[in-house]
Amino acid sequence: MKLAHEDMNPPNAHGLPLVLLHAFPLSRAMFDEVVGVLVAASDGPRVIRPDLRGFGESPLGGDEPSLDRMADDVAELLGDLGIERCVLGGLSMGGYVTMAMLRRHRELVDSVVLMDTKAGADADDARANRLRMAEAVTANGTRVLRPMLQTLLGETTRSSRPHVVNQVTGWLDAADPAAVAWAQRAMADRPESFDILRESGVRGSVIVGEEDVMSTRDDAQAMAEAFAETAPVHVITRAGHLSSVEAPADVVSAMSRRWT
Ligand code: MLT
Repeated sequence: MKLAHEDMNPPNAHGLPLVLLHAFPLSRAMFDEVVGVLVAASDGPRVIRPDLRGFGESPLGGDEPSLDRMADDVAELLGDLGIERCVLGGLSMGGYVTMAMLRRHRELVDSVVLMDTKAGADADDARANRLRMAEAVTANGTRVLRPMLQTLLGETTRSSRPHVVNQVTGWLDAADPAAVAWAQRAMADRPESFDILRESGVRGSVIVGEEDVMSTRDDAQAMAEAFAETAPVHVITRAGHLSSVEAPADVVSAMSRRWT
């Protein structure tokens, strides 16, 4: 599957390319501000950010729901761009795809930045909720996603930053119901990934919004401790689950301690 993507490759790009994988049910647009901060820095890396299949401008295709397929798409994109090794950063669902990349395409990954995500598999009730949402969005469209605003954004953003709330609302409304259902089924099926973090031997860094109620600081700490070499955990203040949208400069600052 050919993924729509943006490739920012400034002449003074520094270090390994950084590949950013977005959250559910959003698109690469969620990294607009992060990329803006990176590009403004004189020593930033080349940054590639795809729309994962079904989201943004990428087609959904006809495959069965699977995070492995999403990882294979990213590997294909890296091959097309001639990238042999990268720093892979994934936020939430993007983090699940990052862990699938470690299972399937370890050779492409130098190190990982796991943002507002978790390595555990779903409990039965969470899995059942996903399957219910897949059916609901298919029947009723993306308005069933609106309650997600309460958990995607932190309390600070919801109470004091209406333009961010409006922006994320627009993104939820614009999602393709078929892709939302597909991705929920794919995420429901994901395996636990603690072992792969350790066995891959990859270096990692963990970022979490202090107000994230979907992927908590406990989840972040558990992931950090799973790496063969314990990863640092960077807590982003006044940000929730979408830390890269809510506090982009702080997220870049936390990321930059990873690759310099
Ligand atoms: C996301 O932000 O990608 C989702 O919260 C992931 C999930 O539903 O587990």
